[in-house]
Amino acid sequence: MQIQDYRSPKVTVIGTGNVGGMLAQRIAKENLADVVLCDIVQGKPQGIALDLAQAHCISNHDRRIIGTNDYSDTSDSDVIVITAGLPRKEGMSRNDLLKINAGIVKNVVEQAIALSPNAILLVITNPLDVMTYLAWQVSGLPPQRVIGMAGVLDAARFRTFIAMELRLSTSDIYATVLGGHGDLMVPIPRLSTVNGVPITDLLSEEAIARLVERTRNGGAEIVKLLQNGSAYFAPSAAAYTMVETIISDRHRIFPAAAYLDGEYGLKDIFMGVPIHLGRQGAEKIVELQLSDTELAALHSSAASVKANINLL
Ligand code: APR
Repeated sequence: MQIQDYRSPKVTVIGTGNVGGMLAQRIAKENLADVVLCDIVQGKPQGIALDLAQAHCISNHDRRIIGTNDYSDTSDSDVIVITAGLPRKEGMSRNDLLKINAGIVKNVVEQAIALSPNAILLVITNPLDVMTYLAWQVSGLPPQRVIGMAGVLDAARFRTFIAMELRLSTSDIYATVLGGHGDLMVPIPRLSTVNGVPITDLLSEEAIARLVERTRNGGAEIVKLLQNGSAYFAPSAAAYTMVETIISDRHRIFPAAAYLDGEYGLKDIFMGVPIHLGRQGAEKIVELQLSDTELAALHSSAASVKANINLL
C-alpha cells in the first residue's frame, strides 16, 4: 500500500445523545477513528463535537470529530452506529418505544446507507432486535453487515452481578446471555463461569435466579434510579468494544443481535446469539449446544421479538 492511499477509519454516530456522545468520546480518545456526529437537532452535534475536540486536545489526541446535521458529511463511513431515537422513561417498556423509534431508524438508515454503501451498521436504538431487523430491511445490506448491540451489555450486567455476589473481580467472570434485549432475554448460568468453573457450582439456585432476574431488568433498574433517561456508560462501552473489533478486524466472539437463518431453529429474525465479529460484520453465528429448557426460553424470547417485528 502506498502511503498516500492511507485513510483514517471513519465512524458515523447518528444520534448525539448520551450514548452517542459517550461513544464518540471513547472512539476519539482511543485514537480509533475519525468520528462524525450526526443529529436532527441543529447545533447539538456541532456543540458536542467542539467540546470533544477541546477535551482531546488536552489529552493529546488528534482524531477529527465533526458535528453535523447534513448526511453528506457521513459519506464513506466504515461503521455507522445508530443511537437516534427516544430512550425509555420510567414505566415504559422498550416495546413502547417501537412505533416512534421505527420511524426515526427508517429515516436515518435510508439517508446514511445511501452515502456509505460499504459500511457495517451497528444498531443501538431500542427495541433493539426489532430496530436491527428494520435497519437491515431498509438498508438492503447483506444481513451479516447489520448487527445490534445488546448482548455485550446484557452479559456485562450479568458479569457485574455475579462479581458482586461472589465478591470477585469481573475480569475472571464470563457470562453467556442470549435472546432478545428485553424481559425475556436468556442468561445461561450453565455457560457462565468464574475462571472456567460454571456458576451453577458456585452459587445456590436461589442466588442464580435472583441474579438472572436482575440482569433481565438491568436497564429498567437504571431507568428507575435516573428518573429521566436510561443507561449510557455501559451501553457506550459495549458499543465501543464492538466498533473497535470491527475496525481492527479482531474476530472476537460476542453475543449480538444477528440475522438467523435456521440457526437455533429460528429463521428471519435478528436476535442475540454469539457471533464472530470482524471487519465483514457478523462473520459467523456460533451455535451453542443448549438444553431443551434453554432452547425453549430462547424460542419464547424469539416469539416476543417476532410479534414486534410483525407490528412494524
Ligand atoms: N435523526 C437524528 N437524530 C435523532 C433523530 C433523527 N430523526 N431523532 C432523535 N435523534 C437524536 C436526538 O436528538 C438525541 O440527540 O437521538 C438522540 C438520542 O439521545 P438521548 O435522548 O440522549 O438517548 P440515549 O440515552 O443516547 O439513547 C439512545 O439508545 O439505549 C438506547 O433506548 C435507548 O433508543 C435509545 C438510544
